[in-house]
Amino acid sequence: MKIRKIGVIGAGQMGSGIAHVCALAGYDVGLNDVSRERIEAGLSTIGNNILRQVKSGKVTEEAKTAALSRITAVESFAGFGEHDLVIESATENEDVKKKIFQNLCPHVKADAILGTNTSSISITRLAAVTDRPERFIGVHFMNPVPVMELVELIRGIATGDETFKAVKEFAVSLGKTTAVSEDFPAFIVNRILLPMINEAIYTLYEGVAGVEAIDTAMRLGAHHPMGPLQLADFIGLDTCLSIMQVLHEGLSDSKYRPCPLLVKYVEAGWLGRKSKRGFYDYRGEKPVPTR
Ligand code: CAA
Repeated sequence: MKIRKIGVIGAGQMGSGIAHVCALAGYDVGLNDVSRERIEAGLSTIGNNILRQVKSGKVTEEAKTAALSRITAVESFAGFGEHDLVIESATENEDVKKKIFQNLCPHVKADAILGTNTSSISITRLAAVTDRPERFIGVHFMNPVPVMELVELIRGIATGDETFKAVKEFAVSLGKTTAVSEDFPAFIVNRILLPMINEAIYTLYEGVAGVEAIDTAMRLGAHHPMGPLQLADFIGLDTCLSIMQVLHEGLSDSKYRPCPLLVKYVEAGWLGRKSKRGFYDYRGEKPVPTR
């Protein structure tokens, strides 16, 4: 099956990134979110991020204009009737994702493939609420989508070979490299990355070191491009907490218990960069550690 038209549900940092790379690769993209304002905000993020690529000579002005013209706002699921692949990239909450797929299914064509960009939730469980578990797959992009080379592919128990092959070809056509993971909590990247971030938060919580020392240590001592607390703010502390909860519940192992300090930040609404406060305060000119 040939994938030509892509639907993206969720115009936040991941959804807008997915729409961005699809449009640049020549696909027609329909972008959906819960309100026109959110779709507009996503479109504006995409415009700004493609502009960064134009400025650094990675994308031409013509390619930018063409890519932006390929993206249309889809204000309701009824607008996804012609899309070959619809990728859900909503908030990391199982009930929200299930509801989206249940509401979406009556509107998509019979042979459309459904993908989820979940960072941790069972593909098999999400597929089970749809009318097409054999045409359902996990297609997990990394943040920032236009920069990161990897896409994780996760088959649910029922995912068909044809679906897997078509989505793998699609990911490669975006210039991404794929890694295949079995359907276990948080797959590969987040199974490894999130416990490290959670441990960094424990390191802060237990008073081993402050925010800046922890990030500097891991940037310069382990050559990570970002320190773990900086990265947590970048991913979003609510998403980090959700992933740790999925690991903790899904694997029933206390080594995955979310750090109470992470819980406290999320309860405070300090979700990282997107809310302008997390382990750093982003409201001024330069990020300032909050601890
Ligand atoms: N869109 C387009 N281009 C972007 C971009 C975006 N959203 N964000 C950054 N860039 C580009 C910049 O324009 C810049 O391009 P040039 O080199 O051509 O000038 C390049 O990327 C590097 O950016 P910066 O110079 O601004 O900053 P940097 O060198 O510090 O790199 C970074 C930024 C790429 C984000 C780097 O810090 C990094 O790799 N961080 C780690 C990211 C990471 O680990 N991501 C995975 C998170 S886990 C995940 O995503 C899974 C999950 O489910 C939670």
